Amino acid sequence: MTVKIGILGSGFISDRYITALEDVKNSEVTALFSSRKERAEELAARRAPGAKAYDSMAELAADPDVDLVVIALPNEAHVEAVRAVAAAGKGVVCTKPLGRTAEESRELLAIVEEAGVWHGYAENQAFAPNLVKIFDMLASGAAGKPLTLRGREAHSGPHAPHFWDAETGGGGAMLDMGCHMIEVARIVFGKDNPVTEVFAWGATLVHGDKTTGEDSAVALLKFAGGELATIETSWIERGGMQLRQEITATEGRFVADTMSTPVWGFVENPGGYLVEKANQETGWVFPVPEEARSYGFSQEMRHFVETFAAGELPSENFHDGVAVSAILDACYASMRSGTWEPVTL
Ligand SMILES: NC(=O)c1ccc[n+]([C@@H]2O[C@H](COP(=O)([O-])OP(=O)(O)OC[C@H]3O[C@@H](n4cnc5c(N)ncnc54)[C@H](O)[C@@H]3O)[C@@H](O)[C@H]2O)c1
Repeated sequence: MTVKIGILGSGFISDRYITALEDVKNSEVTALFSSRKERAEELAARRAPGAKAYDSMAELAADPDVDLVVIALPNEAHVEAVRAVAAAGKGVVCTKPLGRTAEESRELLAIVEEAGVWHGYAENQAFAPNLVKIFDMLASGAAGKPLTLRGREAHSGPHAPHFWDAETGGGGAMLDMGCHMIEVARIVFGKDNPVTEVFAWGATLVHGDKTTGEDSAVALLKFAGGELATIETSWIERGGMQLRQEITATEGRFVADTMSTPVWGFVENPGGYLVEKANQETGWVFPVPEEARSYGFSQEMRHFVETFAAGELPSENFHDGVAVSAILDACYASMRSGTWEPVTL
């Protein structure tokens, strides 16, 4: 069975998802949506020749040549998009974060469950090969029981205005990037081991001219089993994307640093794409080879296509999106109160 895929959005992550789907057997991108049709046409011509261009989400979702719809739109458009796809009875993958709050994520879960449609939550770090190796080694007992995790994601700030608009986007760096590390921590410590309370700090240290959201944030997540995750996010760190996880266990430890690339060099002239949000093209450079695979985008799309074709719920689905949103809500409550806050599922 070839799974025919429609993508909503024609920006940064849509482009990544198209690259990722090129790695997935039995899938074909058949339709693209942008609120400006010419952008969908341009993306189709450049990246998915033959795909139909739409400026209506409902029409794309109703296309008989679309089985599964991937939502790659700004946070504030996820509800409208999931509604349109569920109304057409199609499977839906939604990019992270699922909703802007736990209430919104629960609404999205209710929409897909009431419509009875298949749902996937696109958290790429759950599929990043370096992290999957750690998950597998932990599962085999190689390092004993994981006890603490320190996860950080940082860059110098997002590429599009909707991220900076904290009121419509739903938050700042913690919402945008904390969601990744929260899901990694849930996988490491067990999804049946809930986060019970969090303590968080956030501040706008540099970008007050652009956003009312926090551009720097830290959160401590206490798990029911006693484990602790420390999550750091930053929109103020220059020098390219930073993605790092450190895990301490009773009989070992792991470090995954996606930016410790297997190649680096010194160049006096620009030599093409290096890495997401690189701040420089010359001097010492640290390109990430096969970025879509290194970051887990190809593997997540493969998992979604395979589980959709098999009629099985994927390992990352809207239930996970809801759990992550509940933890993020508690982080924002803690930033406001200055105290530990419970996580309400
Ligand atoms: N690692 C990841 O999985 C990852 C990485 C980056 C972004 N994202 C997520 O993807 C989503 C989009 O981010 P992006 O980086 O692609 O943004 P982007 O600005 O590059 O692209 C967004 C697209 O949506 C369109 N758009 C904007 N507002 C819209 C609206 N109200 N209705 C319909 N279309 C609208 C834009 O024209 C553009 O085509 C966000 O939810 C973001 O959190 C996920």
